[in-house]
Order: sequence, then C-alpha cells, then structure tokens
Amino acid sequence: MKSALRPLALFLGLLLSGLAPAQGADTVVGPPSRPLHLPGIENAFQATDRVFSGSQPEGDEAFAALRKLGVRTLISVDGARPEVERAAKFGLRYVHLPHGYDGIPSNTALRLAQAAATVEGPIFVHCHHGKHRGPAAVGVICQATAGWSTNQAIAFMKQAGTSADYPGLYRANLGFRVPDAAELARLPADFPARVEVSGLVDAMVELDHRWDHLKAIQQAGWKVPANQPDLVPAGEAKLLAEAYRELQRTPEARTKGEPFREQLRQAETRAEALHAALKTSPASAPGTFVLRPAEDAFKGAGQSCTACHRQFRN
Ligand code: HEC
Repeated sequence: MKSALRPLALFLGLLLSGLAPAQGADTVVGPPSRPLHLPGIENAFQATDRVFSGSQPEGDEAFAALRKLGVRTLISVDGARPEVERAAKFGLRYVHLPHGYDGIPSNTALRLAQAAATVEGPIFVHCHHGKHRGPAAVGVICQATAGWSTNQAIAFMKQAGTSADYPGLYRANLGFRVPDAAELARLPADFPARVEVSGLVDAMVELDHRWDHLKAIQQAGWKVPANQPDLVPAGEAKLLAEAYRELQRTPEARTKGEPFREQLRQAETRAEALHAALKTSPASAPGTFVLRPAEDAFKGAGQSCTACHRQFRN
C-alpha cells in the first residue's frame, strides 16, 4: 500500500512544485525555455517545438533567420502594422491579433489558442520588444496547445522579463481556461494578416519609436548614434512634444477626459524641456561629458510614459 502510493505522492509533489510534466502534443522545451540569438530580433526564446517568442523582427535578416529556424507563421500581438509583404518574401504568413498591456481579452485569448492550433507551424509570437505582451500570449498559447500549467506560463513570462507592472498580463494567464475543440470550432476560421488599431494605439506606437530613438541618443552620450546617423537629437525631442500636442486634439483624448488630457499636457511640457536641454547643450561638441540637464529632462520625459500608463493603461 505504502509503496503503491509513493508514485502518486511524487506526482503530487511535482504538481505542487509547478514542475508537472506536460501532457500536450508538443515537447516542452521549457520553462526554462531556450534563449536564442537571432539577427534583428531581441529577447528570442524557444518555448516548445512549435512555439518561438521574441521582439518585432527588424530587417530582411530577421525574417530570413526565422525562416531558417523553420518558422512558418508569425503572430503579432502588437499594435504596430505587421510587415506582411516582407514576411511573405520569406514564405512567412502573418496573423495579427493585437492586445494591450492591461491584459488579453478572453476572446483574443481564444483566438490565439485557435490560431496556434490551426496555422502552419512552427509559429513565432511577437510584440514590440518581446518582453511583456508577446510572452503573455505565448503563455496562453502553450497552456492551450502544449499542456503547460499556469505555473509554467508564469515562469516563462518571468524568464522573458515580463514586468510585474503589468498584472493584467499575468492575470490573463492565471485565469486562462483551456478551450475545448468544440469551442474553437465555433470561431471564424480565418485570421487577419493586419488589423486596424485605434488612433490612440497608433499614436502610441509612433511615440514608442520616437522614444526608442531618444534612448539610443542617450546611450550614445547625447550624440548622434553611430548606427543611426540620420537622427537629430533635439529634433527627436521636438517630434515627441508635437506628437503629444497632436494627441490632445484627437477625439479619443477628449473622450478619455480631463485627467488624461492633463497627463498629455504634462508629457508635452517634459518633452519640450528635453528639447530645450538638447538644443542648448553643446551635445555635438567634442569633450562634453555627462549632460546633466539632458539626463534629468530625459528621466522626466520617461516618467510621463510610466505615470500615464499606470493610471490609464496597465
Ligand atoms: C497621456 C497618457 C499617456 C502617455 C503620456 C503615454 N502613453 Fe503610451 N499608452 C497610453 C494608453 C492609454 C495606452 C493604451 C492604448 C490602448 O490600448 O487603447 C498606451 C499604449 C502604449 C503602447 C502600446 C501600443 C500597442 O501596440 O498596443 C506603447 C508601446 C506605449 N503606450 C508607449 C509609450 C511611450 C514610450 C510613452 C512615452 C514616451 C508613452 N507611451 C506615453 C497612454 C499614454
């Protein structure tokens, strides 16, 4: 009796420690999943035989590398326009199922599960940086199709660097219930290669690119980054301020109400301060060391993003 119970106890022990073996069709590579080094892709991981995760592919070399890995379908969960034509050049199909940082709506989670189960694989799931929304989608997908436990999904998100600032993304995995075949069969059979996102999401995608430029400029010591010679430091800050000003005029900003517009005004003021710091500092003069005013203004501008996201997005 005692010995007969032992395997059960062992199994339960494994379950409780979150290490239960997967029972799905795929071999579970992780978590911990295998980090990959791919050109033009950051934060790349192999989650299972059929599922890869990472950032938005940049340039032909990135798409070529995915194809070489064996990938057949890309699933973007990001608001940016997927490069459908470029992907097609490498024989890769795109499926666009975007969601926000505040979580994965249950219908979107179902569609992700359905796509992962039905499209030609292996699949590469990505958001912009491959850290937050993408890994959350991978968690849902692997729970649905690879027998991952909730704990495995959470562990993968942590491994990929999903921030605790996005509890909605974690909740999407904690609360995910694996759909059955009948449920999936009721969904539409086709998937969009590209969907239109709201004006606000579009504006944020733009802001994010602008912010990436400013980060690169900061990292280059407030000079033009060697690998992006076209960037004009003060000009990027000005464009950021203008983007905020534009946003204040959109119907969406109006419907979001006064506290949201106040955040936008503050963000614009801080972007203007960064612009002023970069314009007056001899950033291009040789021998300039750390530019204190620019560093401070940059920090302030970054706080605009996080403060507003905390209040209105996450
Ligand atoms: C005034 C408020 C506000 C400010 C300031 C702000 N954001 Fe946002 N951001 C939002 C909201 C709200 C969303 C969610 C939009 C949605 O999903 O409908 C969002 C979404 C995003 C997204 C996700 C877009 C997608 O693909 O779905 C990114 C990326 C982003 N913001 C980056 C930034 C960056 C970088 C900054 C600062 C340079 C910034 N945001 C400043 C309110 C703000």
